[in-house]
Amino acid sequence: MTQPRPPVEPFRIKVVEAVHLPKRGERERLLRAAGYNVFGLPAEKIFVDLLTDSGTSAMSDRQWAGIMVGDESYAGARSFYRFEMAVRGVFGFAHVIPTHQGRAAERILFEALVRKGDSVLNNIHFDTTQANVEVRGGRPVNLVREEAYDPDADLPFKGDMDTDKLDAYLGRRRARVPLVMMTVTNNSGGGQPVSMANIKAVSAVCRRHRVPFFFDACRFAENAYFIKRREKGYGSWALHDIARKMFSYADGATMSGKKDALANIGGFIALDDDALAARLKNLLIVSEGFPTYGGLTGRDLEAIAQGLEEVLDDRYLEHRTGQIAYLGGLLEQAGIPVFKPIGGHAVYILADKLLPHIPRGHFPAWALTVALYRQAGVRAVEIGGVMFGKKNPRTGRETFPRLEMVRLAVPRRVYTGAHLQYVADALAAIARKRDKIRGFRIVEEPPFLRHFTARLEEIR
Ligand code: F0G
Repeated sequence: MTQPRPPVEPFRIKVVEAVHLPKRGERERLLRAAGYNVFGLPAEKIFVDLLTDSGTSAMSDRQWAGIMVGDESYAGARSFYRFEMAVRGVFGFAHVIPTHQGRAAERILFEALVRKGDSVLNNIHFDTTQANVEVRGGRPVNLVREEAYDPDADLPFKGDMDTDKLDAYLGRRRARVPLVMMTVTNNSGGGQPVSMANIKAVSAVCRRHRVPFFFDACRFAENAYFIKRREKGYGSWALHDIARKMFSYADGATMSGKKDALANIGGFIALDDDALAARLKNLLIVSEGFPTYGGLTGRDLEAIAQGLEEVLDDRYLEHRTGQIAYLGGLLEQAGIPVFKPIGGHAVYILADKLLPHIPRGHFPAWALTVALYRQAGVRAVEIGGVMFGKKNPRTGRETFPRLEMVRLAVPRRVYTGAHLQYVADALAAIARKRDKIRGFRIVEEPPFLRHFTARLEEIR
């Protein structure tokens, strides 16, 4: 195997933020105080933070310039019109409704469309999307192609939906399916892209059954880049045209501006249906705000508009996906099992394979996130039994998701190749002493999204 090389940054660094590595004893105390949940750690006590790529992007000089010219008028701000134009330019939908982040867009859309007992179909629901279906009394159904769950299936478009299953489901239960969604890239399935061919096929099935088809578009630019690189016929296309073509097959999208809009907060719903847009705006006013700001400041709207103008750039996306591939390559070289192929925003470690001595019921992926902070002050996130598993309230028995992974999500434009090398070295050191890593049990958990606030203890 050739030595992986970090991609060259297509930017230079104008502002820096110091990071510190607390001493080993302090890291141990902090873990204990946080109930061994890395969401409970103070961020300033983290050396390299790969918890999420959401809201953690470094903004460009032009985005910061936008911050200074934000129009903070309550209604009709100039910044809203710039934002609306930028979203329309990329997504092509008539109505643009700002929200404070992606999950607010989901909540409002589902409040308008999902009734108790309905099913929402998706390739794989992200956790907030799933929770927003469930709080409406709905059933989230994942219809990704079967190979998506095989971490060794090295396929170019593992995020694709199984259109036969989709067609069959709609054939049986069309009346109880208010919408179909497609998550690009498929975050909960390894950050894998969806092909244009699959988008087109899913759209055709939805049209035939007359079901609205929406994107969960958080990482649409990374998805567009993979289409350009991997799908026949798109190699010479402009990324902007690929994105427009993707969205042309759908009726709308929810978006978190914290990912591929390169902003620190914000989101939106974009759609064509006039009547639905009017209903969504009414719901928006109750909780998010007037439709020209939707819970955001004028400066946030400027940052998102500018971010959308920057993100569909070949050099940026080559670096972005190159960083993830670099980190994945280093881990593979160290013999650490990873989900393949390497996705668009994160590397996913197969924790149950790395730590086979820890049973699923003792949450091996969770144990690895604790070990990584202990070892090197690096924060990652568990995507396994704690996040997606469920405890039966009657029997106390846990059910587990199919994959038990740790996600190393790389913030956009934030870390250098040396930071990624540092993370890979830490994981290699953990792999060498893997037998000493112990499992965990949950001692406190909330009813929804338990991974955020659960407290655990180490099994001695
Ligand atoms: N959909 C997907 C696919 C996401 O990855 C996220 C957020 C959301 C919706 C919700 O957006 O955070 O703006 O409310 N994902 C983050 C993550 C939190 O770490 O993957 P939000």
